[in-house]
Amino acid sequence: MNKVFLNLGRQPLANSFLKDIKEKTLRNEFFYNLKICFNTKNYLVSIKRPVNPKKQYTDKYAHRASESKTMRLAFKDVAKKLFKRFRPKRIMEIGSNDGVFLKNFNKKSVIAVEPCKNLARITKKLFKTYDEFWNLRLSNKLLKEKKSEIDLIFSANTISHIPNLEETFKGISKILSKNGVLVIEDPSLLKVLKNNSYDQFYDEHVYVFSSLSMKNIVKKFGLRLFDIEHLSTHGGSNRYYVCKEDGKYKSSSRLKKALKDEISHKLHKIESYFKFSKRVNLSRKKLFNLMKRLKKKKKKIISYGATYKSTTVFNYCKINSKIIDYVTDTTFNKQGKFTPGSHIKIISPKIGINKTVDFAFLGAWNFKKEIFIKEKNFLKKGGRFITHVPKVTILSK
Ligand code: TMP
Repeated sequence: MNKVFLNLGRQPLANSFLKDIKEKTLRNEFFYNLKICFNTKNYLVSIKRPVNPKKQYTDKYAHRASESKTMRLAFKDVAKKLFKRFRPKRIMEIGSNDGVFLKNFNKKSVIAVEPCKNLARITKKLFKTYDEFWNLRLSNKLLKEKKSEIDLIFSANTISHIPNLEETFKGISKILSKNGVLVIEDPSLLKVLKNNSYDQFYDEHVYVFSSLSMKNIVKKFGLRLFDIEHLSTHGGSNRYYVCKEDGKYKSSSRLKKALKDEISHKLHKIESYFKFSKRVNLSRKKLFNLMKRLKKKKKKIISYGATYKSTTVFNYCKINSKIIDYVTDTTFNKQGKFTPGSHIKIISPKIGINKTVDFAFLGAWNFKKEIFIKEKNFLKKGGRFITHVPKVTILSK
């Protein structure tokens, strides 16, 4: 039933930035095999053997959702939109990160769930926060504390991270109010296939959903997918709207269109995934060869954005500090550290983006628009970006 179609090799945890590259640190670095499979029954694409979440979501979790202006604005927009459409009295977010979404609502009406203690500490000062993993135990606790009957459950880039879908949806189903709505945002599988963005696969992305698989999964738990929106965030995501089976919402025409579109791209056929796997392999060879060629010509190559996605690219394509001089990233707590597995130094763009740089690999390719505006001087002075999405290309605009 579960068929492996892609092997991205030996990978470290995408967010396990190293504080140094001393022998002892490198000896203790954790690696696992990243293989991706397709379920021929419910059409779900997932990591074959997910990593234990307790290893991943610790008090050192580096990602801050409010780091990027694009994301801050996107969360503000969706908060406004959902409030207008559903008028929820009680709102809960699963994976609330630093509160970038919830802070747009009345503090008294929100509940945050965030297992990374460093992040939960930030929102605890603002509103009710549970620094726990989302599971059945927590949903039972909310029932006991009379914090159930939730009208809007929002979860962006989190449900795809939780290996146990059974507990996730059972728990949600228990605490959602009669006409409550669950809104899930996660990267779109169709976009991954179209963009050849195999770097959406890393330890945290246990699942990459499609509307076909989401429809099948929620059905098992007395829930119903009734609407969908396509978003540009994270290189192309879907916003899924789910209600209880007998909820008042009618199936939208855009959902019907999305399902039809995925069928026409054969997302329900294993052959499509084998073809994708071949394209990914070719992309690896092209990127590696391009960088090697540029190095031979004594060009200086750096990487822009110490993203989780680039962990997959660097480790799969065997790109390391012999090819990339350093990575720039605006996140303060990534600076001074080293990239997982590839061990490339991360520095601030204030120092790293300068006229000695010939090429910058777009690790944060999903923020291309924002980056090209910010770095117009780099481009003006002859600097160039390299991307692998949708094809390995050198970009000057
Ligand atoms: P993400 O794609 O995993 O959210 O990570 C994006 C990373 O890229 C994050 O660490 C911040 C970094 N970044 C920059 O360094 N400069 C930028 O202009 C943008 C938009 C992001």
